[in-house]
This record gives sequence, C-alpha cells and structure tokens, in this order.
Amino acid sequence: MSVNQVQPKLIIHGGAGSSLKSKEGVEAVRKSLYAVLEEVYALLLAGASSQAAVVHGCHLLEDNPRFNAGTGSVLQSDGQIRMSASLMDGSTQQFSGVINVSRVQHPIELAQHLQNFPDRVLSDHGAAELLRELQVPVYNPMIEIRLQEWLQERDENFIKEAAGVVAEKELVVPEKAGAGTIGVVALDSQGFLAAGTSTGGKGFERIGRVSDSAMPAGNYATEFAGISCTGIGEDIIDECLAARIVVRVTDGMSLPQAFERSLTEAKKHRRDLGAIGIDATGAIAWGKTSEVLLAAFHTGGQMGDTLEWMDDALIGFAS
Ligand code: GLY
Repeated sequence: MSVNQVQPKLIIHGGAGSSLKSKEGVEAVRKSLYAVLEEVYALLLAGASSQAAVVHGCHLLEDNPRFNAGTGSVLQSDGQIRMSASLMDGSTQQFSGVINVSRVQHPIELAQHLQNFPDRVLSDHGAAELLRELQVPVYNPMIEIRLQEWLQERDENFIKEAAGVVAEKELVVPEKAGAGTIGVVALDSQGFLAAGTSTGGKGFERIGRVSDSAMPAGNYATEFAGISCTGIGEDIIDECLAARIVVRVTDGMSLPQAFERSLTEAKKHRRDLGAIGIDATGAIAWGKTSEVLLAAFHTGGQMGDTLEWMDDALIGFAS
C-alpha cells in the first residue's frame, strides 16, 4: 500500500434470527461466508472501489442458495418470490434500490445500475420494466427446500411470522422463525465506504409488503460509516436502524458507541434484528437483539465471525 492508502476492511452477513440447529449448519455457513470474505477482500487489496466490492460480495451471497437472497429466496404468501436490494455509496451519498422484483438472478446489480439515474428506487412493475429494457435473462431463484418450507407452512395455514434464516442443509429447515437477508459493508483502499443489502423478504408475507432492505432504515452509508441490517424488517424500519447508527457516528460517536446505544434502544423496544458496519477510521462493529447473527469480517490482519456468539452482549467490534 502507498502512503495515501488505507487498510481495506470488510464485513458481511447472511441473516439474523433463531440459532442454527446443528454444528454442521454452523460450519457450512462459516465456510460459505469465509469464501466470500476471501474473494471480496482480494478485490479490495487489488484496488477495487468499496462499491464494486460490495456489489460483488452481494452477488456471491445472492448466488448461494443457503441464504435468503437471490437464489434460495423465501416464498411469499402466494407462493411467489419477490426480492429487494439496495446499494448506498458513501462517497456520493447516493442510495439506489429495487423493491419486490421477480425473476432475476442478481437484484443487487439492478440497484447498482440505478446509481446512475435520477429515478433511483424502483418497485415491482418499474423494476420489471427495467429488466426488460436491460434484456436481463429471466431467472427462477426458487430452490426445492424453500418450496417444501412454503408447502409445509401452507398445510399449517401460515402460522409462522417468517421463514427460516438459512437453509442449514438440504431439506432441514430451522424450526423457529427468523429473517434472512444478506449484506456487505466495505472500506476501500482510498478510504471510501459502501453498503449493500439484498433479501427475499420475511417469507410468507402478504403481497406488496415492503422490506427494510431497500430503505435507508436497512442499508445506509456516508463518508463516515456504512451499515447493513438484517432481521424482521418492520422492527428495523421502526428503529430506522442503519441511518440511526450512521447519523450517530456522523455526530461524533465512535462506531462501537453508536452500535451500543442503538442496539440498547432496539432491545428495549423488543426488536428482533441485527446490523453490521464499518466507519471511516476502519473500525468494524456488529450487533444483534436476535438469537444469532450470521456475520463474518476481515480486518486485513485476520478473519472472524459471530456465528457462535450466544452471550448477552448486544455488540462486538474489531479494528
Ligand atoms: N430484513 C428483511 C425483511 O424483513 O424483509
């Protein structure tokens, strides 16, 4: 690195919610997350911008059927998949996203495309029209385990509030509710931040429900900090969590302090959520009120994760 360059930092998540049931599930998720960390961190070291790194990381996580985004997304109440994704570039402070888009492999790439246009957040029909304009091939992101999960839920008359966080292994679905989403936050070697988030939603929701993942409540970045959230979207929206943490950092709090304050408030309000973030100094932080947060990070010196973090602490950090 030259004298003007900073050490890149990276944190990613694959959802938050109820604990993974098996050691096998933990190891499989860890392997998936670390493979993404290694590939994306190499890009950052090679000089990629934070925006490019975030989009590539989201792309890889959307392709992994284990996570609830892109391929492997959960089904809504009518048995259809509708996905949402957003991208925020901290250097331009521009947010872009798609809401409830169908039949596409990488919703995050639509969000990236929209960075360059005056109309930067498109919902269902508009997103479908954009896909047509861009001649993006039609893609079915449904996998068998998610279909079986929906069929089982339908037989039980949709009593769950949300689908399982991740597909732990084939045809084994976590029993309790949770909400998966994927997210990536990066600090590049020029010191610029970006955040991206992508989701299939809560699962079993009514048609037209809007996820936090394509709102500044769930994904936000400025020159000071970048945050991606996961968990129950309504809880994240009620806390306006991503923007809240970023504004606190902008106003002078350290990233760990901003996480501590915001997650304490969220816990007091009985929210079910998690968040990851990086600030402009290179501090990395994560927090959860849910049982588990499936996050992993790269400091430049080491990789770590939160998969077996079960104590009562609300936050953790590294630098
Ligand atoms: N956090 C994802 C969702 O609730 O849609």
